[in-house]
Amino acid sequence: MSLDREKQLAAIEAVKYVKSGMTVGLGTGSTAAHMVKELGRLVQNGLEIVGVPSSENTNKLATELGIPLTTLEKTNGIDVYIDGTDEFDPYMQLIKGGGGALLREKILTYNSDLVIIIADSKKEVKRLGDFKLPVETIPFATKKIEQLLQKMGLHPKLRLKDGSNFVTDEGNFILDLDMAHVSNIQLLESNLKQIPGIVETGLFLDMADIIIIGKGETTITLKK
Ligand code: A5P
Repeated sequence: MSLDREKQLAAIEAVKYVKSGMTVGLGTGSTAAHMVKELGRLVQNGLEIVGVPSSENTNKLATELGIPLTTLEKTNGIDVYIDGTDEFDPYMQLIKGGGGALLREKILTYNSDLVIIIADSKKEVKRLGDFKLPVETIPFATKKIEQLLQKMGLHPKLRLKDGSNFVTDEGNFILDLDMAHVSNIQLLESNLKQIPGIVETGLFLDMADIIIIGKGETTITLKK
């Protein structure tokens, strides 16, 4: 069974939590795209929702599919947020941001009543850190932050796209860190957040309420 099919099955299962009248946060990435497509199909069949996209890419896809959209500040909060992840561990802790949308994703996650993460079976890990941890930084400070993180043993790599710096939807850069050797992820998160110029990290700790995993032709649901 292909990983893409597992992503699709998880997405279809997650969308079952969406009911007419809801404000729905729309994640970013290949798994989230399946969810947006499924919502688009349901909207065509009469489901009445308003979406809040987490990126320009998702905005474009949802617009093409005819999903009515709004922005976070115009809502009274989000009923349900659905997004993919790069890794999740047995404690439902996540690394996100492989697609570079971690800042808006974390803001939407924080402002949502229910957070559903959808994943293929390869995203499940015993311990976070095989995937490099994305950290979003203000361009003005990025070089200095890179030097500091290097001294901290986190081996930062400035993310590039087509030979130039990758620039996020909020106009920032991304450093991808090696956190494989870090045992206390809560401490890492708080240490990183104290460095001026680091806007956000891809560690989503204690934020997921439900994780739906596609496995073969079925899904498994984890709940907090
Ligand atoms: C986007 O910034 C990310 O957080 C994605 O949600 C995450 O990288 C998962 O992407 P895929 O669904 O494409 O694996």
